[in-house]
Order: sequence, then C-alpha cells, then structure tokens
Amino acid sequence: MEIITNEKQAKEVLKDFNETALVPTMGNLHDGHLSLLSKAKEVGEIVLASIYINPLQFGVNEDFDNYPRTLDDDLLKLEKTGCDFVFCPSEDILKNIKNYQAPDISKKLCGKSRPTHFDGVVTIVRKLFEVLNPDYAIFGLKDYQQFLIIKKFFNEMNFHTKIIGSPIVRESDGLAMSSRNNLLTSENRKIAPKIYKQLAWIRDNIENQSHSDLILNSIETFKENNIHPEYLSILNPDTLEDAKDDDLSVLIAIAVKLGNVRLIDNILIN
Ligand code: PAF
Repeated sequence: MEIITNEKQAKEVLKDFNETALVPTMGNLHDGHLSLLSKAKEVGEIVLASIYINPLQFGVNEDFDNYPRTLDDDLLKLEKTGCDFVFCPSEDILKNIKNYQAPDISKKLCGKSRPTHFDGVVTIVRKLFEVLNPDYAIFGLKDYQQFLIIKKFFNEMNFHTKIIGSPIVRESDGLAMSSRNNLLTSENRKIAPKIYKQLAWIRDNIENQSHSDLILNSIETFKENNIHPEYLSILNPDTLEDAKDDDLSVLIAIAVKLGNVRLIDNILIN
C-alpha cells in the first residue's frame, strides 16, 4: 500500500490506473469502513482510501477536537484489507479551496441542527475527487442523507465518478457501527442499541399502523428509556419528504443525542 500526501504526488502515482474505487473516510476505521473497502474491491480494480478529518463539516460547538485520531492503526487496517493507495493530505488541502453548496435536501433532517455540515462535506469530497479522479466512490448508507446529497450533487455537476451506497454494518446488539460509538459513556452504550430496536419495530409494523401512530408510539418508548430523538421520520427515500402511509419504499430515519454524542441510524425499505 502506498501513502500519498499531496495533490502532485497523487496525479503522478495514479495517472496510469483505470477503474479506481475510492473510500473517503475521516479515519478511526471500524468494520463498517472495511465493508466499504470490500465493496470498492468488488466494483473497481484499484482501491483508494482517503483519511482526512475535515474541519469544514464540523459546526462551532461540534466534536472536531475530540474526533478520534488513530492514523497508525487505520493504516494497518487498510493495508490488511488490501487497499492499494491511501491519501492522507495535510491541511494544505484547504488552501484556496472553492466552497460549494449542497443541494436543498441538505436543509432537512441533520441539516436542521447542522446547517453548514453538508456544504463542508460536498466541498471536501469534490476536492478529493479532483485530486484522485476516482471512477467509483463508496459511501456508507448509515449516513443516508449524505449519500443522497453526494449523489445529487455530482450528478448535477456531471462528474464521471459513480457514487455507490454500501449497507450499514451493525454491532451484534444492533447498534450501527460509527466512530462516535467509542465516545459513548458505558451507561449510554448500553442504551444505544434501543435505537435500532425501535427502528426495526417500526419496520415490522409498518403495514398495520399509520406512520403517525408508529412515530408517536416510538417516541413514548424512547421516553421510557430516556432517549429523546432530534428527529424520527418515515420518508420518501428520494426526496426526504414525509412518506404516505401506503408508500412501499420508505426510509425510517433517526438522530439521537446520547450525552454529547450524536448518533444517526436508518432502515431503508424498498
Ligand atoms: O462520511 C464521512 O466520513 C465524511 O463525511 C466524508 C465523506 C469522508 C467527508 O469528509
């Protein structure tokens, strides 16, 4: 595995490769990320990863300073998984960066409490694409709204990179894998699996109850466990507008703050 640290080196090293598949990350890699690398191997011939904790996507009171930094460990994991190149840029990557605005669906769900987050995401992902020019890029469906925004953004810009979503990977108790899980207190780590359990209950009852009843009942159950979702919604997976009770394809999406840690999860029914 070769480590690339700047734009010039990237252009030089990657110029002869075709069918490259990129997994952009902010490091602190877990099995969820490694499943994205497997997907990259499936669709492409050369696997690229990037590790960069992007300050542009953190709000002023968010956890940029506490975000786990585990570069040595991450590089070992990437090497073991068969990654071919890893791009670890310095802060220079932000020099003269052109800022972009995310499509309007960025204002919904997570965008309500994180108004500048998705602009920061599309800005850095675009920069990564410009430097690495991947044929495919793989994003985890745990961050479903991010996936949808990136897909729309690059379609509108006519980029050739194909955006691919990869399924959520869960701990054995159902909690969606996330770098932020490490930041949970042991008390909140015990509560956290109830998030997925309730989403699964909604999925299992969606044909028998109205969406509003499912949501009201779930909010009650959450309250009993001292969980207060920032949002819990049943949505059209393309527009992120509220779904109708008889829609066959829906996204059940949630964001919850446990202590200082914000967790998101979803179930997609097709
Ligand atoms: O999903 C993430 O880890 C980040 O938002 C991404 C896509 C690497 C951009 O910084």
